[in-house]
Amino acid sequence: MEEELLISDNMSKKNKLRSSNWYNSQTHRRDTFVHRGWMRNQGHPSHLFDGRPVIGICNTWSELTPCNGHFREISESVKKGVYEAGGFPLEFPVFSASESNLRPTAMLFRNLASMDVEEAIRGNPIDGVVLLMGCDKTTPSLLMGAGSVDLPTIGISGGPMLNGQHRGETIGSGTGVWELDADLNAGLITEEDFVEAEISMSRSKGNCMTMGTASTMGSMVEALGMSLPGNAAIPAVDARRYSLAHMSGRRIVEMVKENLIMSKIISKKSFENAIKVNGAIGGSTNAVIHLAAVAGRLEIDLDLSDWEVCGKDIPTIVNLQPSGKYLMEDFYYAGGLPVVIKRLLEQNLLNGDCVTVNGKTISENNMKANCWNNEVIKKFDDPLIRDGGIKILRGNIAPDGAIIKPSAATPKLMKHKGKAVVFESIEDLHTKIDDPNLEVDENSILVLKNCGPRGYPGMAEVGNMRLPKKLLKKGVRDMIRISDARMSGTAFGTVILHTSPEAAIKGPLAAVQNGDFIEVDVNKGLMNLLVDEKIILKRLESYKPILPDISSGYQKMYIDHVMQADKGADLDFLVGKRGHEVKRHSH
Ligand code: FES
Repeated sequence: MEEELLISDNMSKKNKLRSSNWYNSQTHRRDTFVHRGWMRNQGHPSHLFDGRPVIGICNTWSELTPCNGHFREISESVKKGVYEAGGFPLEFPVFSASESNLRPTAMLFRNLASMDVEEAIRGNPIDGVVLLMGCDKTTPSLLMGAGSVDLPTIGISGGPMLNGQHRGETIGSGTGVWELDADLNAGLITEEDFVEAEISMSRSKGNCMTMGTASTMGSMVEALGMSLPGNAAIPAVDARRYSLAHMSGRRIVEMVKENLIMSKIISKKSFENAIKVNGAIGGSTNAVIHLAAVAGRLEIDLDLSDWEVCGKDIPTIVNLQPSGKYLMEDFYYAGGLPVVIKRLLEQNLLNGDCVTVNGKTISENNMKANCWNNEVIKKFDDPLIRDGGIKILRGNIAPDGAIIKPSAATPKLMKHKGKAVVFESIEDLHTKIDDPNLEVDENSILVLKNCGPRGYPGMAEVGNMRLPKKLLKKGVRDMIRISDARMSGTAFGTVILHTSPEAAIKGPLAAVQNGDFIEVDVNKGLMNLLVDEKIILKRLESYKPILPDISSGYQKMYIDHVMQADKGADLDFLVGKRGHEVKRHSH
């Protein structure tokens, strides 16, 4: 009884927090008993329920998501910081979409995970939330879910693995797999060599250590201002990752007191910054789709034209695989993302006044950054690629746009006209690609259909189609490839992706037939099928898309509601903020 009085007394001295509706209600005494009483079975003493900020630690830890396998340890560091600042940390699990394990593709479950995150945050007594994110889809799914609730929120990435080391050479996650696979198919290495490379590549905890989607999205979190400075690049096993987690725990308690909610940090201007940072780091094409989905949740207009405008004239200055040579560990030792941000700020390319989670502007946070290796983070007057970033292509095949990452492509293919070799589905591709009779040469353009958000639910990362064995053996290592699919951020090649609308909803990509000429001009942002418009329309009228055989369950809901790639491939009914208020429909 004495304890209860103490709790009530302390409460009245503090601002009323959201969690007080659960733990300190004077009007619903029975509810309070249930909420607080059952929590006591974990041994939490009375003073933790005295109206102090309750901080949810939203954890994507899972042994089936190896990139996030160390997140319980990161969470312990966050908890230390939260306690130290006078908060009460409570960790909770959410759906963890593993890029390396989950079938048919992790992207199919990004939106499902975001629903879990949103409802878990809103339905629980949480005043502020820490998002633990790492493997590709775990970052956007948490940002999307948290965005729809809009509480004070801080992000912490799990950090990349240490550099892969294989037979005296560094080897990058994902990127190395594509290279080894091509070498294996060309007969240059043996099966044993291939297997031996596995543990050489993944030799510590953490996510892919190339500038793939995970590291790109970690960089986007930092560029958006959603994490403390330096978050993106610290290796997963470096002690400084755990210091950052500890400090993030301290900071989220202050953010609750300041009511610094997510929508006060993320704005149209911070998205513009993120797009420019993506260009400078040579980031993944998947950032386009994920940022659109996050923006949608926060009710911010962001579309491909923003990438056209903001992504223009941004040189790629980070020399990391798959665009360049080095890996994330090198990037961190060279100074990490703060150096990139500083270099963009010096060129007046960023909105320096955007506020970040520590309450300071992005300019205040990064202008003092030091570069320790100009070969890894290059200077603006000596970039890795002068015209980097992501380019948007439009034309009669892609009226709603398609994208390409020139920094990972072959320069001489940036302007090209070639004959289409068409695959109607991923199965069709697997059946025909190595057929010795396939009519294909290095000037052909490979076209893959029905792999967009609906055609291959989740829009699998199959856009970087394997090249025909007979061409690989001739030494061909790149060709233009066009599809409505996505591509792994670790992949490379002259690969045109996200063609919208997709073939499965009879987008014009569906009209392409074997032998048609396609013209691509990346600098002019054009991609056209050189076939008469009337013929294209006629072909589309009679086109029968190959649709997945799904009639129930989550996947049915997904195909019924998923939006096209240019809209972020979110489910249409999830767009927008729904706030943190718990609506009780009957009680
Ligand atoms: Fe998880 Fe690459 S597989 S980050």
